Amino acid sequence: MKRILLFILPILILVALGFAVSGVMQARFTEDKLMDDLKRKARSVDEGLELSAKYILINNDLKQANRLVDSFQKRERLQGCVIYDKDGQILAITERFSDFKQRERPYLKDILSSKLPRGALEKFKEYSVYSYILPVLNDDESVLGMVEVVYDTSYMFTTLTELWRKISITSIALILLIVLTALLIQRQIFIIPVRRLTQWFTHFQRGETDKLRPFAEKGEFGKLISEVEQVALSIRVARRTISDEANVRLQKNELWTEAKLKDLIHAKLGDNSLFVVSNREPYMHVFDENLGKEICIRPASGVVTAIHPILSACGGTWIAHGSGNSDRKFVNSQDKLGVPPEDNRYILKRVWLNKEEEQGYYYGFSNEGLWPLCHNTHTRPIFKESDWRMYKEVNQKFADSILNELPASSPFVFVQDYHFTLLPKMIKDKRPDAKVALFWHIPWPTPEAFMICPYQNEILEGMLGCDLIGFHVQNHCNNFLDTANRLLESRVDTEKFSVVRSGKETFIRAFPISINPRINDGLFKVDPIRQVEKLKKEFELKDEIIAVGVDRIDYTKGIVERILAIDRFLDKYPEYKKKFVFIQLAAPSRTHIKRYHDLIGEIDELVEKINWKHIDGNWKPIIYLKKHFSQDDIQPYYRLGDICIVSSLHDGMNLVAKEYVAEKDDLSGALILSQFTGAARELTDAILVNPYSIEEFADSIKLAIQMPKEEKKRRMENMRSVIAENNIYRWAANIINEMVALKKI
Ligand code: F6P
Repeated sequence: MKRILLFILPILILVALGFAVSGVMQARFTEDKLMDDLKRKARSVDEGLELSAKYILINNDLKQANRLVDSFQKRERLQGCVIYDKDGQILAITERFSDFKQRERPYLKDILSSKLPRGALEKFKEYSVYSYILPVLNDDESVLGMVEVVYDTSYMFTTLTELWRKISITSIALILLIVLTALLIQRQIFIIPVRRLTQWFTHFQRGETDKLRPFAEKGEFGKLISEVEQVALSIRVARRTISDEANVRLQKNELWTEAKLKDLIHAKLGDNSLFVVSNREPYMHVFDENLGKEICIRPASGVVTAIHPILSACGGTWIAHGSGNSDRKFVNSQDKLGVPPEDNRYILKRVWLNKEEEQGYYYGFSNEGLWPLCHNTHTRPIFKESDWRMYKEVNQKFADSILNELPASSPFVFVQDYHFTLLPKMIKDKRPDAKVALFWHIPWPTPEAFMICPYQNEILEGMLGCDLIGFHVQNHCNNFLDTANRLLESRVDTEKFSVVRSGKETFIRAFPISINPRINDGLFKVDPIRQVEKLKKEFELKDEIIAVGVDRIDYTKGIVERILAIDRFLDKYPEYKKKFVFIQLAAPSRTHIKRYHDLIGEIDELVEKINWKHIDGNWKPIIYLKKHFSQDDIQPYYRLGDICIVSSLHDGMNLVAKEYVAEKDDLSGALILSQFTGAARELTDAILVNPYSIEEFADSIKLAIQMPKEEKKRRMENMRSVIAENNIYRWAANIINEMVALKKI
């Protein structure tokens, strides 16, 4: 619209100016002409009266004089006549002009003495009138008197007003005509071709190549379109070539790498790009009060740690809640941006939620309801009807946002976690051709535990919209199959590990999630040894044995139990006082939920109490760092840690355990790992503990310290090879292979 205004506005201004100037000129000309006519008319009428006036004045015939002036009273427009004697006194006057009698009219004397007529405009009441006075002469040229005719000029004003009205109507009609013509031209030469080009692109983007028709545009547009067609063709050909080459390379390598996963995706999914949806976004823009500017952070999240390397390798679109307070500043008109910000590898589409939605869906139903429901930590789940309503609405909002993005044929949608149990069915209902997989990042409870959820049926039905549901460990798969069997009218196939409901089959599989173990390859901005030294200096550490913990502050992570175990360890083995330091990195999380808010206070108090109990000079046993840490910030702490403590009370997997092991390329270090984590099934060389047993936990710290170097090395080597083999690329490849194997994509 702006563009068309820029084009039309100067034309309209010129036309309006033209009309104004010619209108003024035309009005002037008409006014002059009308005035001339009036003067001429007044003069001729006056001259026509001269003879009758002469007769009246010679005979002093007052009767005749009055009859003459009265004849003007009957005329329609304001007209009048006055007869004067030789002294300039009024003998007879048309009644409507009788006011003239009171007027001082000094020029009458001049007319009598000069014997010359006079015509002039005069004010009469509220009117403007034209008066023409003619001296009446006798045969001997002596003055007998004067005769005056008076004409109203208001009809001239009426005529001019009418003229301006006509000019205005014509100019408005012309302006409208110009606007209409300009709009038609712009539509014809610009909007229609651009719209066709856009539609063509939309079809191309969605892979609807059968709907594409060649363009027959000529001129500059034609050239542009032909260029676009060439680029599109090259992309299609390039995709096909990549896919063929990828198939060949896939046969070779054994270990799963970024490149191999890329090949797999090209070979198996071809043009079908990958759509990932999660609540947590991989990049968040937030305003940093200290720096006084916006910064981009990587949230502490297992989902982000796992999925980011996959999309970085393969591209695609990640749809997530835009929860950063400056997120809106960094998206385009489609709410999208390329990430990582410094090296765009994939698209992040942000979905906006208002406060009420975030409260009900995220804090409420997801994290006060489903989260404690699925974790055995004895925290009571809270289910509110209003939260459930919001949860459904937000699932629908995400479904709409995804459906908008999906290409025409067989897209692959990969849904993450418990925030979106209803989403798979919502997508399938609209796009039955889409392949939908859900990965459940937390444990799945027993049917008895799940049964307390008032919305159990809707949740299971929503999830069974998937073609494939993945859990970390087989035990969670078994729990899910039991749950579906017990709570839904469905058929569970224990051979195929699938659930069939209303003729639709959903496969259930275990895919232990992992990390990118080459995490430190070239990613350090500063030399890691120097960073470790920097940390030691910062915390005034010398040769102490360092244990580290890295967690979101969550009651499932067993942070309280960990601190109690350290306290017990120091009580039981006091020889380690001043020789052992525990550093806890703790990222505040879900702080609007009371349980989390209380936990922060509880840990603060406990750390304070235990430190106070054991403090000795400059030494204290616990360094508690409560803030958000980026991946780059965390790595040096892993390096620094002789021991890493992961003591979750219940955890789907726990990637911190894997990250610590991946970081220990010198094969030093020991991992103390809760037996209630998914990671404990794979990392069997860790020192496994029951975090509820404080005594056993304290002893395991001693065991980690005293373990011979060679033993530590052997265990670390074993754990590293497990992670190298079962890395995040294998995890993604397994899911994709499974999807492709289930049904042909
Ligand atoms: O890994 C489990 C998980 O719940 C993820 O789903 C989530 O992204 C992460 O923990 C962090 O939680 P949040 O996103 O609520 O901060």
